[in-house]
Amino acid sequence: MPDSPAPDQFVTSPMRDNWYQSSSFYGSSFALITSVNEEGITSIGPYQLSFPFEVIKRRSWMVISRPSSNTVANVRRTRKCALNFIEYSREAIETILKFGYPGQPPAEKMAYNTFRLMDSPTPGRTGEGYPQILADAFQVFECTLDVERINENPILRDSTSAHLLLNIDNILVKEQWKARIDGSGDSMPRIPLTYGFRGASTFWFGETQPAYKLPIPDLGAKHEVVLYEANRIDDAVQFTKAASEALTGIPRAFLRNVLEGIVRQAKARGVTEVTPEFLALLNKERG
Ligand SMILES: Cc1cc2nc3c(=O)[nH]c(=O)nc-3n(C[C@H](O)[C@H](O)[C@H](O)COP(=O)(O)O)c2cc1C
Repeated sequence: MPDSPAPDQFVTSPMRDNWYQSSSFYGSSFALITSVNEEGITSIGPYQLSFPFEVIKRRSWMVISRPSSNTVANVRRTRKCALNFIEYSREAIETILKFGYPGQPPAEKMAYNTFRLMDSPTPGRTGEGYPQILADAFQVFECTLDVERINENPILRDSTSAHLLLNIDNILVKEQWKARIDGSGDSMPRIPLTYGFRGASTFWFGETQPAYKLPIPDLGAKHEVVLYEANRIDDAVQFTKAASEALTGIPRAFLRNVLEGIVRQAKARGVTEVTPEFLALLNKERG
C-alpha cells in the first residue's frame, strides 16, 4: 500500500548469555519453588525458566537455575520441592522480586516473607525434607527430583546451568479453581507475567487482563480431533485410529458426551482399547 509507513526492519540481535532476556523478549509466568534447607527451613525461590516437560503418561517439569541457588542445593539434597503458583497482586510481586535477589539464606528471606506457609495436606508429605507450601497459591505441584534420569542424560547432567528434571507426584488445586479446569465458568486465575531481568537494574512484570474464552472453530469432524478428545478422557481406555475414524460423523456439540459414554461402557466390561469392532458391538446392543 503506497501510503502506509515503511515497515520496521528486522535487525540481528547479538547472542548473549541468558539470551532469552538479554538478546530477546520472553514473557511467561513463573513458579515459586519451596524447598527445605539443612536446618529444616522452607525457602522460596522464583523461577521463570520453569515449564511442563513430559505431558503424556509421565508428568514432569523442567526448571533451569543458576547452579549455586538455595533451591538447587536443597532439591539435590532432599529430592523434594513444591512449585507454587500465585495470582497477581502488586504486593506479591514486590516480595517475589526480593526473593529473586541472589545470595540470601532462607532465614533472611523468611524475615520479610508476606506469603502464608502451610504443611502439605497430602498424606506422607510432611516432615524431614518435605517443604511447606504457600497457602495463598491457587495451585501447587509436589515434585521429586529424577536424579536417575538426569544422570542418564548428558544434556541435563553436564549443563552449566542446573537443569532440574522434576517428576510431578501430586497436583493440588484450590477448590474454586478445580471446578473450572474444564473451562466452565467465566474466569481463570489471574496469572502474573514476568519479562525478566533487563539492563543492569530493572526486572519487568506484567499484569494479565481477565481471561476470555472462544469456541473452538469447527473445521469439520476430523478423526484427529475425535482421537485427541477420546484419549484424554481416561488413561486406561484408549481409542484406536480406526475407531476415531468411525466416529467422525458425531456433531461437535455431542462428541464429548458420546465419547464418555463409550469409555464408561468399555470400563464396565474391562475393555482397554476401543476398536471399530467394539463400537459395532455397542451399536448392535443399542439396536
Ligand atoms: C520473577 C523471577 C523469575 C526468576 N527466574 C529465574 C530462573 O528461571 N532461573 C534462575 O536461575 N533464576 C531465576 N530468577 C532469579 C532467582 O530467583 C535467584 O537466583 C534467587 O536467588 C533464587 O532463590 P534461591 O537461591 O532461594 O533458590 C528469577 C527471579 C525472579 C524475580
